[in-house]
Amino acid sequence: MHNLDTLLSGLRAAGEHTRLRILTLCSRGELSVSELVQILGQSQPRVSRHLKLMVEAGLLERLPEGAQVYFRISDQDSSSSLAHALITLIPETDTLLIRDMSRLNQVRDSRAKKAQDYFQQVAHSWNSIRALHVPEQQLDARLLDVIGDQSIGDLLDIGTGTGRVLEILSDRISHGIGVDLNSGMLAIARSNIEQAGLAHIHVRKGDMYQLPMDDACTDLAILNLVLHYSDNPIDVILEASRVLRTHGRLIIVDFAAHTEEYLRNDYKHFRLGFSDDEILNCFEAAGLTASLDTQQLVGDPLTVKIWHAQKQSNIASINPSNTVAEKRSP
Ligand SMILES: C[S@@+](CC[C@H](N)C(=O)[O-])C[C@H]1O[C@@H](n2cnc3c(N)ncnc32)[C@H](O)[C@@H]1O
Repeated sequence: MHNLDTLLSGLRAAGEHTRLRILTLCSRGELSVSELVQILGQSQPRVSRHLKLMVEAGLLERLPEGAQVYFRISDQDSSSSLAHALITLIPETDTLLIRDMSRLNQVRDSRAKKAQDYFQQVAHSWNSIRALHVPEQQLDARLLDVIGDQSIGDLLDIGTGTGRVLEILSDRISHGIGVDLNSGMLAIARSNIEQAGLAHIHVRKGDMYQLPMDDACTDLAILNLVLHYSDNPIDVILEASRVLRTHGRLIIVDFAAHTEEYLRNDYKHFRLGFSDDEILNCFEAAGLTASLDTQQLVGDPLTVKIWHAQKQSNIASINPSNTVAEKRSP
């Protein structure tokens, strides 16, 4: 909801030639300052100044990612509704905008190429791990079964990698966020999401131990083949629980306890899978009620399990001294 002052400051921030172009470009996906500089053909300080004003007015959101900062249309209701309303009024036939869009496509092609190059470097190790368990399509089908048919509001995919889980759930969710620590992976995910035209899905850099999001903002959180990278799974599960709404669900897809020791050295797995007891104890400590029908897909040598739980109440009331961010700060 706008009051007159916020509406006016939003209109003022958008009321300039380049800023309307930036708004149109950011409505097509997240863009970094250097990409905007390339598309608009203006100097970096000038583009940065426009961006700063638009962020201050709440029209754009700033998403730092390593050395880069990405910008996108704000997610906050009042400002994003103004931004979206303005975008519908911008004439797409304007020659300058047509040129911007063609440059945007070039930027996207070059992103996709970089992402593909990175993927080539990591694909070998991914394929080696995949060969140790049941095919991914089988895992995806079982994951969809566990999630069930109901539509989902806000999805959080923790350790999203290439954004595959976000994509397979894209038609069932209102809004999706994928978080990953690895910028190369995020570049692949961003490029895949753009190519699939999924405007309701975003990715951002973040650590599974300190998710870059508010408490109680998620209806479904998924850790798909990620938890074995953790040296402290309970902290990850507590953090996932923090961002779940009451009755929100957490699904963990990971390996059953195994003895393939070489995965630690060769593929940086911290944990050789998990026992049911360990995961169920973590659920309990995090204020989550476990579903009794843990799924199991037996592979050779790795069996994959799907553990599923629901948030009952606010974690703070269960374990008040335990804020994970505090625990992990130096
Ligand atoms: C095996 S991939 C799984 C990707 C994806 N979930 C999927 O199923 O296709 C594991 C992912 O976890 C990410 N990851 C590892 N440690 C992380 C952390 N501390 N915070 C966020 N992501 C992390 C890696 O960068 C990688 O993309």
